[in-house]
Amino acid sequence: MTVTPATATPDVSPAPARGDAVIEVHDLVKRYGKAVVHDGVNLDVYRGEVLSIVGGSGSGKTVLLRQIVGLERPTSGSIRVFGEDPTRLKSAQLQALRNRWGLQFQGGALFSALSVIDNIALPLRELRALPDNLICQAALLKLQMVGLTARDADKMPSDLSGGMTKRVALARALALEPELLFLDEPTAGLDPMASDGYVELIRELRRELGLTVVMITHDLDTLVALSDRVAVLADHKVVAAAPIEEVVKVDHPFIHEYFLGERAQRAMQALQPASGGAQPGEQ
Ligand SMILES: Nc1ncnc2c1ncn2[C@@H]1O[C@H](COP(=O)(O)OP(=O)(O)OP(=O)(O)O)[C@@H](O)[C@H]1O
Ligand SMILES: [Mg+2]
Repeated sequence: MTVTPATATPDVSPAPARGDAVIEVHDLVKRYGKAVVHDGVNLDVYRGEVLSIVGGSGSGKTVLLRQIVGLERPTSGSIRVFGEDPTRLKSAQLQALRNRWGLQFQGGALFSALSVIDNIALPLRELRALPDNLICQAALLKLQMVGLTARDADKMPSDLSGGMTKRVALARALALEPELLFLDEPTAGLDPMASDGYVELIRELRRELGLTVVMITHDLDTLVALSDRVAVLADHKVVAAAPIEEVVKVDHPFIHEYFLGERAQRAMQALQPASGGAQPGEQ
């Protein structure tokens, strides 16, 4: 797959049809002791869309994601993924459900003792369904899919740049050919060029593989470039979930601060190219 240079222009793919919800979160409450993280979160994610989740640090973005993928139990409320409630499944069914999504955790989290190719191959080896030569071939394909080459296969995580680490983590998330991809701060810590390259990669993968993507990000450029809809977590709830142009009109202090500050205005100009919005490379 060729990876073309990124631009700051928003993805113009048609928005997916509503109604086909891949993820349904209803009246979710999550508490740790007396500390309330979520108090009535409602959110649907539709097949084929890129939904971004934003919110202040500690607002519960990662905890929401961990509940959706069944790593944590809600205090109350319900979560369905592909129509199934992960908390009610037996372990074999839960594993089958987990194989339908890929996860890139905040921080990348590669296994430092495993080479690049072994990191990518890990989910396939855990399946115990394929001979090792096929696993290696599949892992190599995924490596190429994220813009790396066979020469990178035997490198160790400590030898990789930040951008390469993120790509390897993404290749591992794609190892089982998921329909749904969760990305937690995928561009955090990358320089602007590496970040743009990563954004373009996600855009291409989404187009080619028809992925549904749930992405947590603080980065406005990434948000603007990729999102069909943005969900805003604040006050322990989702206070808005809509295309970014509509979200910015919602009267909420976090939205004002996040989307309407000076830094935000620069990123938002990319949504209005006809009125002289920022061009790629322009700061
Ligand atoms: N296992 C846990 N036990 C107790 N509190 C927790 C636990 N996990 C998360 N929390 C708390 O839940 C709140 C939400 O955390 P979370 O990691 O979801 O924030 P976040 O929105 O992802 O923040 P950031 O943008 O900094 O990544 C925080 O106050 C955190 O301390
Ligand atoms: Mg987080």
